[in-house]
Order: sequence, then C-alpha cells, then structure tokens
Amino acid sequence: MDRLHITGGTPLHGRIHVSGAKNSALKLMVTCLLTDQPVELTNMPNLADTRFLAQLLETLGVEVYWPKGSSTCHLNAAELKSTIAPYEQVRKMRASFNVLGPLIARSGHATVSLPGGCAIGARPVDLHLKALEAMGADLRVEGGYVKAAAIHGLRGAHINFSTVSVGATEHAMLTATLAKGETILENAAREPEIEDLANCLNTMGANVTGAGTPIIRIKGVEALKGTTYPVMPDRIEAGTYAMAAASAGGDVTLDGCPVAALGAMISKLREAGVTIDADEAASTLRIRRNGSALKAVSLSTQPHPGFPTDLQAQFMALMCTADGTSIIRETIFENRFMHAPELSRLGADITVRGQEAVVKGVDHLTAAPVMATDLRASVSLVIAGLAAQGETVVNRIYHLDRGFERLEAKLGACGAKIERRSGEDE
Ligand code: EPZ
Repeated sequence: MDRLHITGGTPLHGRIHVSGAKNSALKLMVTCLLTDQPVELTNMPNLADTRFLAQLLETLGVEVYWPKGSSTCHLNAAELKSTIAPYEQVRKMRASFNVLGPLIARSGHATVSLPGGCAIGARPVDLHLKALEAMGADLRVEGGYVKAAAIHGLRGAHINFSTVSVGATEHAMLTATLAKGETILENAAREPEIEDLANCLNTMGANVTGAGTPIIRIKGVEALKGTTYPVMPDRIEAGTYAMAAASAGGDVTLDGCPVAALGAMISKLREAGVTIDADEAASTLRIRRNGSALKAVSLSTQPHPGFPTDLQAQFMALMCTADGTSIIRETIFENRFMHAPELSRLGADITVRGQEAVVKGVDHLTAAPVMATDLRASVSLVIAGLAAQGETVVNRIYHLDRGFERLEAKLGACGAKIERRSGEDE
C-alpha cells in the first residue's frame, strides 16, 4: 500500500494548475446514458473515482475510450447491454448510484445496488428515490438492490426536497431531461457542479433553467444528442492547495482556478490573516503568508454558497497552529471529524463535542505516522504534515488517489518535500 513521506517546514513557492472537478466529472460522465450519440468530456481528472465510474459504464455497455493520462474521455452509449449496476461497483463509489434514473429514462427499467453507508456518515438515498417515484418510476428494494421500472415512461413532477442534497438534485435533473413535461425542483442544491451539469445537458439539447438557484426547471425533451464539454475546474482541489500554501507559508498562485466558486473559503482565509489576490477574469488565486501568525477563525459548514464540508478537514489542519481557539461545526455529515484524532497525533489540541470541534492553536505540530480515513481527511493530514516539524508519514493514501490528481507532483513543484513510497504501513 502506498504512503506519503512529508518533511515539513519548507514554505511553498510556485504555481499549481487546478485539475477538472471530480464531483462534476462523475455526474457529467453519466449524461452519456441519456443519448445514443457520443459524449466527449475534456479537462477530465485522472482519478481512481473517475476511472472507476468508467468501468461501471463499460459494464452497462458504454464504449469508453480514455487513454491512460489523457484528459479527454470519449463515451458512447449507442447500445446498452445491461441495466444492472452491481453491489461491488456501487458500494465502492456512491456516485455510481446516479445511473439509476438515467437508465430508467433510457431503457424503462434498471436494477441498481443501494450504496450503503460510508466513512463520513449514513448518507441515505431516500431523496433520490422520492424524486424518481414522483416522476413515475415504480421502485422496490429487494436484496439490497433498487429494482425500478417506468412502464408508462417518466413524467415531469414538482419535487420539493426536504433537505438540500447535491446528489439528489443532480439525479433528478439528469432523469427529468427525458421525462414527459416539466419538472420543478425546489430547495435544490446550488453547488457550482450543478450548474456545470445543467450547462452540459443544455449543450445536449436539454432544457434546464435555474441551476445555481434553489428552483430548477427542466422541460423534458424527446431525445438528447451528443456533445463535447469541458469539466469545470475543481474548487475543492483549489481550496485544498490554497490551505496548503497558507499552512506551510510562502507564495503560491493557482492557475485555472474557479475563483467565483470559492467565495466563502477566500473570506475565511483572509480572516485568518492570509493574503489573497483573487483575479476572477484571469482565473488565478495568489495565496501568500510570509512569517505572519495565523488567527483562529470559527466556521460552520453549509451548502453552497456557504463554507463547503469538503474543505472542513483542511481548514481544521490550518487552525491547529493558529493563534487562539477556533470552533468548527460540521452540519452536513454526522461523522466527518475522523481527521481530528489523527491531527492530535501530530500534537494538535482538538476536542470533538458532537458536531463541533474545538481547536486550540498550538505553537507547532510535530511529525508522526498517521492514517488516512477518507479523501478530504487524508489531505488534511498532508496539509498538517507540510507545516509540522520532522517527517510525517501518511499511510493508506489510496483515499487521496480517489480525488487528487498528481498531488505529490503538484506540491513538489512548489518546493514541498513530499515523496510517495510503496510497502507496509509505517
Ligand atoms: C456530494 O455528495 C459530494 N459528492 C460530496 O463530496 C460532498 O461532501 C457533498 O455533496 C456535500 O457537498 C459528490 O458529488 C460525488 P448530499 P452527496 O446529497 O451528493 C443527506 C467528497 O469528498 N441526504 O448533498 O452524496 C446526506 O446524508 C465527497 O468529494 C439525505 O438525507 O451529498 C447529507 O447529510 C464526500 N438523503 C446531506 O443530505 C438523501 O437522499 C447532504 O448530502 C441524500 C442526502
């Protein structure tokens, strides 16, 4: 199993190019199921998760051409040979569940495994299922699988989500593009990835308006056509490198950065005393901290445009050495503080009380072996390691490979002492 060895204490200097967004790419890939014409996605991130979804699509009969290392992925679902998404594939990657609605829309029926819980919380799919039922799908759960059929086709529906859900909003939007009549999604999620999906669907001939606001309207069309579409840049990757630079100190510029999508994070970093130059027109974000102490800042995670849960662990790592006490509240997932005990192994002073973590800034962190537990938790340990004294070993980095493309190369190019090694955990 691979691990990362990080020798902390070196400020970062240089430029980092932001990759395509994992959480957008995973939904954009699913659009291919809605058409018998080719879908070509550019700016695709080469990640374990995107490669994994490509395999599931192949199982369903999609022709996938995506050479290793290439950022262009060709998907052609001219003919589907299966409408079954098996447990082994959905369990490993929850976003696979989003094939259910598109398969029903395309083939009239589908059998898709329920994803089950995961490291950060229970993560039910009830909102997804309610939306599909409202659109006329008959669903029954049997042996851990959702068996679905829409004998008379799918029809538009008025769906008011009781909780803001990124996945359910996207799933309903994908499915509604081919339903008969208009679908209205209320209390829809407003994440930038939802706008990206709507834009892509519209290039395919769909009629989606309002994405990025709480009310999305989708007028169903007879058929969708193929497209070539660029995946938006990854705001979570960008935010992660911004915090790495803030934590290690130095002067780093992010190129191809989705500046407008990072408002909440930028204001929290500024509050913490980090100098940020944001240039939306040039898509650059320059992060500087030269010797000045960090100030403790409290926050609560919120759906977009609030502070994203996917940057909470990274921000906590930053606050470990800030002046004062910061209170970090996680409001989206019930178990997303798995990084706290690992950060404590590096000398952080963190007390978790339910959904709140109290982080008392310490003078410095000291290297130790730590273990990655989920994607964002893992990268928070990398950020802490970059600031810690000595050599930190982050074990089980397969989590990192799910969502960060060439992480050690990107940080290494800015002077970070970071190296991947294989073998037993240390
Ligand atoms: C997406 O997950 C992202 N994943 C997550 O990123 C991200 O943390 C999350 O949105 C929130 O921004 C992808 O896009 C692939 P939700 P998703 O549905 O769609 C509850 C990462 O690290 N809920 O918005 O699964 C749910 O339990 C990952 O890249 C229901 O109760 O998140 C949670 O408490 C992790 N019933 C809340 O809603 C449902 O049917 C928000 O979840 C669906 C969700």
